Amino acid sequence: MSVLSVSDLSVSFSDPKNPDTKIPIVKNIDLTIEPGEIVGLVGESGSGKSVTALSIMGLLDPRSALIDGSIRLQGDELLGHGPGTSRALRGSRVSMVFQEPMTALDPVFTVGSQLTETLRAHTRISAKEAKRKSIEMLDSVGIVDPEARFYSYPHELSGGMRQRVVIAIALLCGPELLIADEPTTAVDATVQLQLLDLIKNACEATGTSVLFITHDLGVVSHVCDRMATMYAGEIVETGEVSRVLSAPQHPYTAALLGALPRPETRGQKLTTIPGRVPIPGTEPEGCWFADRCAFVADECRQSHPSLETGPAGTLTRCARIDEIAPALAATTGPRRDIQSAHTTGGH
Ligand SMILES: Nc1ncnc2c1ncn2[C@@H]1O[C@H](COP(=O)(O)OP(=O)(O)OP(=O)(O)O)[C@@H](O)[C@H]1O
Ligand SMILES: [Mg+2]
Repeated sequence: MSVLSVSDLSVSFSDPKNPDTKIPIVKNIDLTIEPGEIVGLVGESGSGKSVTALSIMGLLDPRSALIDGSIRLQGDELLGHGPGTSRALRGSRVSMVFQEPMTALDPVFTVGSQLTETLRAHTRISAKEAKRKSIEMLDSVGIVDPEARFYSYPHELSGGMRQRVVIAIALLCGPELLIADEPTTAVDATVQLQLLDLIKNACEATGTSVLFITHDLGVVSHVCDRMATMYAGEIVETGEVSRVLSAPQHPYTAALLGALPRPETRGQKLTTIPGRVPIPGTEPEGCWFADRCAFVADECRQSHPSLETGPAGTLTRCARIDEIAPALAATTGPRRDIQSAHTTGGH
């Protein structure tokens, strides 16, 4: 059974100017995560990645957010319950790591008390045992001198160390699913790699499944097994990372890949994707990426494409993929830098 099974998930928010109108943000998303799998959710800012994550976590305010569809955790439906049941169903089974560690840590409590409180909220455990387990967890996320750090306050730690503590708290109660939303965006490149390896290795060791949200395809290639590209609130391409990144089947994924720095172009200006994601509620007729697509043709403006198997065997939402696949491959070229990172786990 899938650990996470999201089907036909839609989220809309009340329009602040007109509370009777709902603006769709996430649109009919399907997403599954198998035991032990790390699935990447990628897309530019505003594509709906965090809203998807927050709806899985049950953290959207029901007064403004309208959620439709189904979210199952090991078969248990998470939607359609009152707040109490909703919290109880998730319990310690899903946990989340955010971009900024201080959103998860309380500045007035020691690291140790935040770990032990988490344990004691979810399990019947003595204070002594909670302390032992917490120190063990700090050690396993690479905190040097965990006995001393147990008594530190968050401000006494570096950003990278704080994020390690947040990862420790997130994994403490053995969740079935970890959602990591841009967990390494706030740290420098070296620390980023260490944190990525930490999440990957810790989740592999415990069999925890991960939904990994990022806008960086380099990060996806480093940590994820499968990926889904989101654009304007819907999934436009999904498949195994090795397949998608070696031959993207949607012009948007290809453009994201093209915008990634290459070792040989280091120091040069990065290519960017012209234009921007349509403002929610103003998506054009037909394909929503059409205005920014290098391969756009008249037919793209006619009807909204559905997600279908493309020539490379992955799912894509592009009506012209059969025609444009060779030209698309030529735009990205072989990305040995990316693929080697994924297949060897190296840097
Ligand atoms: N609570 C809310 N009420 C109304 N609109 C919202 C709310 N939260 C998010 N949105 C809107 O939903 C859209 C998607 O936001 P979301 O935060 O999911 O994007 P994202 O893909 O996570 O982007 P980023 O990469 O910047 O984190 C944005 O247009 C945002 O303004
Ligand atoms: Mg976000």
